[in-house]
Amino acid sequence: MLTSESLLAVLDEVQDPDLGQSIVKMGMIQHIRIEDGGKKLAFTCELTTPACPLKDKIEADIRAAVAKAFPEVQTLDLVLTGKVKAGAMAAPGGENLVPQIKNVILVDGGKGGVGKSTLAVNLAYALQALGARTALLDLDVFAPALPSLLGRQERPKLQGQEKIQPLVHNGLETMSMGYLVDPRQAMIWRGPILGGIVSQFLRDVVWSEADYLVVDLPPGNTDIPLALAQHCAAAGVVLVTTPQRLSLDETRRRKPFYDQMRVPLLGLIENRIDLRTPHSGLGAGALAEEWGVPFLAELPFAPELAVCADRGAPCVEAMPDHPIARILRTTAERMAAQISIQQQAAAPAT
Ligand SMILES: Nc1ncnc2c1ncn2[C@@H]1O[C@H](COP(=O)(O)OP(=O)(O)OP(=O)(O)O)[C@@H](O)[C@H]1O
Ligand SMILES: [Mg+2]
Repeated sequence: MLTSESLLAVLDEVQDPDLGQSIVKMGMIQHIRIEDGGKKLAFTCELTTPACPLKDKIEADIRAAVAKAFPEVQTLDLVLTGKVKAGAMAAPGGENLVPQIKNVILVDGGKGGVGKSTLAVNLAYALQALGARTALLDLDVFAPALPSLLGRQERPKLQGQEKIQPLVHNGLETMSMGYLVDPRQAMIWRGPILGGIVSQFLRDVVWSEADYLVVDLPPGNTDIPLALAQHCAAAGVVLVTTPQRLSLDETRRRKPFYDQMRVPLLGLIENRIDLRTPHSGLGAGALAEEWGVPFLAELPFAPELAVCADRGAPCVEAMPDHPIARILRTTAERMAAQISIQQQAAAPAT
């Protein structure tokens, strides 16, 4: 007979495949309503992110389990939601300056020009489109890309004497050094000042509560990721590379740094794959396998990405049905899932 208890016993057999745990044990099943003598059933399944790539599979598994165990159910009103958990709230270097942000995602790669900024912007808008509250911070203080990538040049408003309001662009809170100084001006910041700039961008910008803050990093070995990892609880870093050996070598050099900072590697993205160019042999896929981290995406050389960038509109927004936008959405889902997986692995066993 269908009761809340018998339903939970049946759903206990359904697992979140990414997390390898029963959806009941993870507390995902909520708001059970049984009506009409068991003919009508309604409940909610709260996933660990609205950007869950396995949403459809979990829904199908739930529906199959209910249909098999309770054939009397004629209508099943199943609502899938996502509630993102916060990662570790303690920042390794001391104070977490953005406690209202549940997960900070770094986009790095090492090499210049591999597509970090393009991907950071598109992944942020993809997460937002999938239902996650997202914000975007351009920490390339030497050559900020965001004003150009979003087509916004105006100065952000001040709040009081010391606080800066993020610039909201298509529903997403964004901030960049390019909003504060003339982007055509060459910016030379020395090491000690960089740490101060990073903490100001975290503390003095009035960020709202968010599930994810995507951070675009400058190329090369700067003090920026170090300062960032010290002042927030980074959920993880995504490394972007191209198939070229020079880029892969740089990417390879980033891992020891993030290992040392205890920032988890969420995965690798291989960008700008041009089939006409001979492959170096060792691709990002092989590197991901060697490191035991997910290979999140292979993105072809796609002129649309550059065209959108020049128009100041992220591709996932401007061309949502284009195959490249689909790949970017899947990449965002896999990245979000990886954060949930890392959190699950770090959580004390229940
Ligand atoms: N998959 C792609 N196909 C075609 N063009 C791309 C692709 N990805 C990025 N680009 C283009 O490559 C150029 C460099 O990209 P982007 O600025 O995102 O790289 P970056 O790694 O952030 O560079 P930097 O290290 O200078 O910050 C841009 O003109 C962008 O439009
Ligand atoms: Mg960039």
